Amino acid sequence: MDDRKEAKNRIEKLKAEINHHRYLYHVLDKPEISDAALDSLKHELARLEGQFPKLVTPDSPTQRVGGQTLPFFKKVPHRAPMLSLEDVFDEGEFTDWIGRISKLAPNEKLEFFGELKIDGFAVSLVYTTSIFTIGSTRGDGQTGEDVTENLKTIEAIPLRLREPKESEIKNIGLDPARVIKTVKSGEVEVRGEVFMTKSVFEKINREQKKRGLAEYSNPRNTAAGSIRQLNPALAAQRKLDFLAYDLVTDLGQTEHSQEHDLLKVLGFKTDKYADKLSGAAAVKKFWEAIKKQREKLAWEIDGLVVSVNKNQTYAKLGVVGKAPRGAVAFKFPGKESTSKVKDIVVQVGRTGVLTPVAILEPADIGGVTVTRATLHNEDEIRRLDVRVGDTVIVQRAGDVIPDVVRVLTNLRSQNAKEFHFPKKCPVCGQTVMRAEGEAAHRCVNKNCPAQHREGLYHFVSKKAFNIIGLGAEIVDKLVDAGLVKTAADFFGLKPKDLLELEGFAEVSANKLIASIQKSKKISLARFIYSLGIIHVGEETANLLAMYFGDLKDLMFSSVEGLQKVPGVGEKAARSIKNWFDFKDNQHLIAKLDNVVEIQKMPKVAKKLAGKTFVFTGTLETITRDAAKEKVRLLGGDVSSSVSKETDYLVAGENAGSKLDKATELGVKVLSEREFLKLI
Ligand code: IVH
Repeated sequence: MDDRKEAKNRIEKLKAEINHHRYLYHVLDKPEISDAALDSLKHELARLEGQFPKLVTPDSPTQRVGGQTLPFFKKVPHRAPMLSLEDVFDEGEFTDWIGRISKLAPNEKLEFFGELKIDGFAVSLVYTTSIFTIGSTRGDGQTGEDVTENLKTIEAIPLRLREPKESEIKNIGLDPARVIKTVKSGEVEVRGEVFMTKSVFEKINREQKKRGLAEYSNPRNTAAGSIRQLNPALAAQRKLDFLAYDLVTDLGQTEHSQEHDLLKVLGFKTDKYADKLSGAAAVKKFWEAIKKQREKLAWEIDGLVVSVNKNQTYAKLGVVGKAPRGAVAFKFPGKESTSKVKDIVVQVGRTGVLTPVAILEPADIGGVTVTRATLHNEDEIRRLDVRVGDTVIVQRAGDVIPDVVRVLTNLRSQNAKEFHFPKKCPVCGQTVMRAEGEAAHRCVNKNCPAQHREGLYHFVSKKAFNIIGLGAEIVDKLVDAGLVKTAADFFGLKPKDLLELEGFAEVSANKLIASIQKSKKISLARFIYSLGIIHVGEETANLLAMYFGDLKDLMFSSVEGLQKVPGVGEKAARSIKNWFDFKDNQHLIAKLDNVVEIQKMPKVAKKLAGKTFVFTGTLETITRDAAKEKVRLLGGDVSSSVSKETDYLVAGENAGSKLDKATELGVKVLSEREFLKLI
């Protein structure tokens, strides 16, 4: 009995502690302990609950992992209808809305509340005596589906409402006694959006691709699909997120902004950009500001939700159809449009990759005219089944090249022409090859003029030589005029050479030559990157520079020698060796060596030579793999078990038996901080 009592006590304390850290992490965005430490608390709780199953409560953090597979979803009637919003697409329509509601609520100074319109799907969460009891989808607005078990897997949704402090409620301007009474002994309904962050979505798609499975089209559908899984264990793997935006229950609030404040102290994550806005001008300013930041946000949004902040006015304005009059979705310009494919052409890139491109009838996508969209590769053309003449949906996301997301096959005409991927390079006519395991076709001709030209663009680009003022257009002019044949020729140019070209005058010519001369001094890493070797991106170039410290050592290294560089696999090693074996490239290096000044890497490289490291426990600021890579780069070795030969044991959090062994053998133990200092 004593054991049970003690366990009960400990379980209650653990639950409160885990909930507190959930709140710090998800709501306040200020975690105080690491994931690993939190996991270990959860483990202890699960172990105790395993011993005393009767002590398991529905709000226990262990109840998130996903229960039994359901035969179907039960229907749940909503306590109040879940409405939708009317869209306004531009400033004009927004102003019209203000005009309409001002007439219905005359003599009132309207104040607004603006918040992000998250691209996910709405759910309702019901808490009975603080415990999460029913979670449902919107359904038709009147009746939804019971997805409680799946929603429980979302960490951002509290399983028990947090009991706010009196002072917190007073700060919001409400009566603490009333709020706390309803929270503890009544029912509270919260609404908000379930969504998937862009990074989780991208990770899922990377894994799908690796496994050869179809990729998902967007985060919203992927999130919705996850919640509609009858097996909660599957939903649990999807790492969904939640933001609360509506408090349905009357806790005495008179303004929508107070609802956001209340939701936060009740333990919900809320929109941190959301703000009270004093009038139409402030709303427009807010809309512009968020539109600018849109691409940088961790999740997709398609506009703002703008509501009349005073609840009484909001209610007085009423509902038309299924939408309240007192709020609108103030949308951002769409990222998609339809267009017709006029032609499909194939471009040859720097590394010889052939990229099919759809030439489109000009389409306006969010204020930008788009005439080309990438089709990526042959497999993508097949997947889309895109043909010349087809009507397609084109998407423009962020700064990336627009792409074709779908073909509207119902609109296909009989004359639509299938596209056959070329067997020969469209520029030089040589054979194209598709290497095993690669989606891309490449032109095998090392002297292919298209590759050569792209190689020159790459050479002068920002992350390579960074020659300011020298873009693709000028490179083209220089090549066409015969002034530049290889990258080394840039450095021999004189102002008078440029004066022969269209568009140059004395000042601009002098300026560009000065800029070229200024870029001559270059780090070894950038120099290696600028060569444009296949499979050598910025990161690999860095690793190579750090490892070799000197260009000559890199040039004459064998494939095996190159593979010793951490992060360089066989594919990259062969590609590097091939590149330096090619005579033309050797000439280029010799010429460049005469005109540029490569800064060698300081010889820190081998400072851990002969030392063996073992890692144990969880590292906080660096991943285990990255730490191992660092050791190897500095010439050290990494082993998986502690022995007399071990020089250092790096012990992170929750270090286990390895730490005991190291202490026993007298092996030097380093904390994470000491290790970082050493490297
Ligand atoms: S308030 C009366 N706030 O947009 C409807 N909705 O078109 C109250 N949405 O079904 C909704 N972010 O799925 C509201 N901050 C936000 C929102 C938001 C996304 C979605 C929600 C709703 C749809 C309305």
